[in-house]
Amino acid sequence: LVASMEQVEETYIMVKPDGVQRGLVGEIISRFEKKGFKLKALKLFQCPKELAEEHYKDLKAKSFYPKLIDYITSGPVVSMAWEGVGVVASARKLIGSTDPLQAEPGTIRGDLAVQTGRNVIHGSDSPDNGKREVGLWFKEDEICQWTPAQAPWLR
Ligand code: TYD
Repeated sequence: LVASMEQVEETYIMVKPDGVQRGLVGEIISRFEKKGFKLKALKLFQCPKELAEEHYKDLKAKSFYPKLIDYITSGPVVSMAWEGVGVVASARKLIGSTDPLQAEPGTIRGDLAVQTGRNVIHGSDSPDNGKREVGLWFKEDEICQWTPAQAPWLR
C-alpha cells in the first residue's frame, strides 16, 4: 500500500553563505550522498538580490526579512537539486529545526549551527516548493538526468 503511494520528488538544497565561509560544504553534501539521494544539479553561486527576494517572497512581511536577504546575498551559496522518493521530507529531517538550538543532535543544524539567522542550510518545505525552487535557481541545461550505477541498492 505504502509503496504505491511513493513519489519521486525533487528538493532544492542550499548551503547558505555562512556554511560556505565556514568550510562546511563537503560535510553537508556528504550527508545527502550517504543517505542515498541522487544529486541532479550543483553550483557555487553568488545570489543576486532579486533572486533572494523571489525565493523568500512568502516571508516578505516578516521583521527578519531584510536581514535574511542581506545574509543570503552576503557571499556565495552552494545550490543543489536532489531527487528521490520522499526526498523533501527526509531532507528536512536531515536538516533539523529552523532554530539550530532546538534542532536535534545528529541533524545538520543541530550539529553545526547556533543561530536561526545563520543556520547554514536551506531545504524546500514541500514537493511543490521543491519543483518551484529547483526551477528558480537552475536553468534547464544545468540539471542532469542520470542513472546511478548503484541503483539496485539505493534508489
Ligand atoms: P523558514 O522558512 O521559516 O525556515 P526554514 O529555513 O527552516 O524552512 O525561514 C526561512 C529562513 O529565515 C530561516 O532558515 C532563517 C530565517 N529566519 C530568521 O532569520 N528568523 C526567524 O525568526 C525565522 C523564523 C527565520
